[in-house]
This record gives sequence, C-alpha cells and structure tokens, in this order.
Amino acid sequence: MPIAVLVSGGGSNLQSIIDRIEAGMLDAEIKVVVSNRADAFGLTRARNHNIPTRVLLHTEFPSREAFDEEMVRAIRESGVNETGVVAMAGFMRIVTPVFLETFRGRVVNIHPALLPSFPGVHGQADAVNYGVKISGCTVHFVDEQMDHGPVIIQAAVPCLTGEDGDALGARILGLEHRIYPQALQWLAEGRLEMRGRFVHLKPASR
Ligand code: GRF
Repeated sequence: MPIAVLVSGGGSNLQSIIDRIEAGMLDAEIKVVVSNRADAFGLTRARNHNIPTRVLLHTEFPSREAFDEEMVRAIRESGVNETGVVAMAGFMRIVTPVFLETFRGRVVNIHPALLPSFPGVHGQADAVNYGVKISGCTVHFVDEQMDHGPVIIQAAVPCLTGEDGDALGARILGLEHRIYPQALQWLAEGRLEMRGRFVHLKPASR
C-alpha cells in the first residue's frame, strides 16, 4: 500500500511506521514525507531511510486551499493513488475539502486523547487539567472538522496522580507507536469497512 506521511515536527510516529515496514510487519511503502516546516526532525528521519521528502511552507501560499492543492500535487506525484493512504502524523494543519475530496476516505490521523474528548493541540494537558482518570490515543479517519472523523482504533492509559501533560503525553506516545501501524496494516489488508460513520473491522482472511 503506498502511503504519504504528513509531519510538522519530531516524527516519532513516522519512525514507528518506518520501523514496522522494515520489520516486515506493515505491508506499506512510504512514497513521500511532506512537511510544512523545513526544520521538522521527521524530514531527517525520512532521509535516513532514503524516503523522498517534500517541504511545503504554508506561509508561502495565499490560502489554505492553495496550500492543499500543492500538497495534493506533491502526494500524487509521489505515486500515492486511489489504493494509497495519507497518514497525518503530528501534522499541525487542518486540511480543507480540496484535500479531502481528492483522498476521500483515505486520510487518517492520530490524536493523543480518547476522542471525542479533548480534541485540539493540547489534548494531553487538557485531559490532566480536567482530572480524567483514563486517557489515551485515537486513530481516526479525517473529515472536515478537527480531530473528529470515524474512529478506527483507540488505546487507553491510566492518568497518574501528580503527573503533568508532558509526562502523560510521553506514555500516550508509546501507545501511539503501537496503534498507528496497526491501523495502517488493517487498511493495507482492506479490513476496514465504513458503515455510516462507524468503522467495522472485518476478520482477517486466512
Ligand atoms: C503525537 O502526539 C500525535 O498524536 C500528535 O502530535 C504528536 C506528534 O508526535 N498529533 P511525533 O511528531 O509523531 O513524534
């Protein structure tokens, strides 16, 4: 399965995907890593594994739509077609319908909270500040709203007394690295079926 991975920062989720592919446990090929920041460490991770990279600076585009059109072009050029998937991994931009209509049903994201609780950029700290006893992470299909689309898989961690958002986030990140490659493998196997807004996991074929 061809994949494009979108990053803005450290790219540890990207690394988990790369590692799982190289271990032969994820039937995917990363065709391109796109970043909206030139200094994203995720780009270095990609280059270390000879994966093509593209830097598209959103500040250089007149509108969100113009930026998304260029992302669509870059991703298509890389060879990600209708059998492929776009995986957002710490990509700090909201995509527009221009993007979603092109890759409808094939754009996924990971969020460091149990959606629909605590969407947004401070999901870990928001969970701590609310005082919930369990948090976690969510892989979901992307729709027009931020951190909102149909849920594919979630994993939970207990919130520990006295822990801050960073500490909770570090433990959540460890789980992210397990469930994101898993969700992508299900996609590669064609096992995810949409029923309305529900994602149904079909049994593995023998
Ligand atoms: C992760 O917590 C992810 O859930 C969130 O941004 C963070 C990215 O981390 N969307 P990394 O760049 O993959 O290390």
